Amino acid sequence: GVINTKDMLRDAQVNGYAVPAFNIHNLETAQVVVETAAELRSPVILAATPGTFTYAGRDYIQAIADTAARRYEIPIALHLDHHETIEDIRSSLELGTKSVMIDASHHAFEDNIDIVRQVVAMAHEYGATVEAELGRLGGQEDDLVVDEADSFYTDPKAAAGFVEKTGIDSLAVAIGTAHGMYKAEPKLDLERLSEIREVVDIPLVLHGASGVPFDTVRECIRRGCCKVNIATELKMPFAATLRSVLTENQEESDPRKYFGPAKAAMKTVVEEKIRMCMSDGRY
Ligand code: 13P
Ligand code: ZN
Ligand code: NA
Repeated sequence: GVINTKDMLRDAQVNGYAVPAFNIHNLETAQVVVETAAELRSPVILAATPGTFTYAGRDYIQAIADTAARRYEIPIALHLDHHETIEDIRSSLELGTKSVMIDASHHAFEDNIDIVRQVVAMAHEYGATVEAELGRLGGQEDDLVVDEADSFYTDPKAAAGFVEKTGIDSLAVAIGTAHGMYKAEPKLDLERLSEIREVVDIPLVLHGASGVPFDTVRECIRRGCCKVNIATELKMPFAATLRSVLTENQEESDPRKYFGPAKAAMKTVVEEKIRMCMSDGRY
């Protein structure tokens, strides 16, 4: 079955690459991610939001991820992306999920610590690793919409204390990325990332990587990010190809025929992102 992210992120941190975390929504998107990762011998994290679990079912997604983990020799984790409730997290831990993000970043600092600490205590009982966010990313991911005005950057001075008090295994940083695509090229606060890296020794996580230029992501990896989250840039080619295949073939009703090209279009991007993360050929 799926594993936690401790060893895979530590290996990435030590060796200067990042493990890609790709958001998946169903069998097809999960297949594309794990097949491509296996071909490239890359560790991989399948990420799913609460919205995805509501859509597809926690048990179904868990079964898909566990099957993938048995089928391939690469390290595969299923990760709860941006989860906000202890109840949701517990139900996945009971199903065998070993990697969790508790997003309490919209709460006040002390409350954030309190909630995260509870999740860490629970998750560690199950042998699961925990990621939390300090600062707040802008943009939209599923039902989670954060106005630019409500977003704020991670404070390096608060980061070490946050990690120590919560006992988390990895830290999501807010350094100017946002969920979704960008209107203009994002300006990242790379200096801030380095300052956080200096005071925090656990793996750092870059959210909102869709739309961030290749070289900028590479620079973030160089400065210490060892998990890179990518959602939107995989959804776009899948949807665009599906749309054109169905438009051009009005009589087509066979899912095996119209999903095939959509999966192929998504695969190209997964491959490109794995190479961007430099996680290929590691296993
Ligand atoms: P993007 O949609 O910008 O790739 O963000 C993904 C993400 O951060 C998932 O947690
Ligand atoms: Zn995110
Ligand atoms: Na983004």
